[in-house]
Amino acid sequence: MSLTINTTINGKSVSASAEASTSLLEFLRDTLEMKGTKLCCNTGECGACTIIYNGKPINSCVTMAADAIGAEITTIEGLADGDKLHPVQQAFIDTGAVQCGYCTPGFIISVKVLLDRTKKPTAEDIEEAVSGNICRCTGYNKIVDAIHLAAEKL
Ligand code: FES
Ligand code: FES
Repeated sequence: MSLTINTTINGKSVSASAEASTSLLEFLRDTLEMKGTKLCCNTGECGACTIIYNGKPINSCVTMAADAIGAEITTIEGLADGDKLHPVQQAFIDTGAVQCGYCTPGFIISVKVLLDRTKKPTAEDIEEAVSGNICRCTGYNKIVDAIHLAAEKL
């Protein structure tokens, strides 16, 4: 069965059709050609596919495209302001928190939600905010450095 998905992504109204079985991640990547959100485990374990859904970070691989109907969604493509990267994106670059980069969009989304909530996150806040995001490359120290640097810049 095909559905019409009317939703808002990165502040723009979007309307496209999707099969009822399509995940939100497939809808973003395959239907809308928005490849910034990454597909990795596809089982809700790694956080590579994290997006902001009605203000909260969620794993789009285990969310159905149909759930996007009427929702407000922000993806990694929605963070930069033209050519100017979002402070969280810039901080990840400046601290060397990006290696393969596969996990990075998901981390950045989770960190953005955290720093929208508080500009002075505690160690516990940070641990909780990125607890659903797995990075296999950097270790987490540089990512934590990036979070502190971004908090200073915001
Ligand atoms: S790809 Fe969605 S949680 Fe890993
Ligand atoms: S930078 Fe490679 S998995 Fe995180």
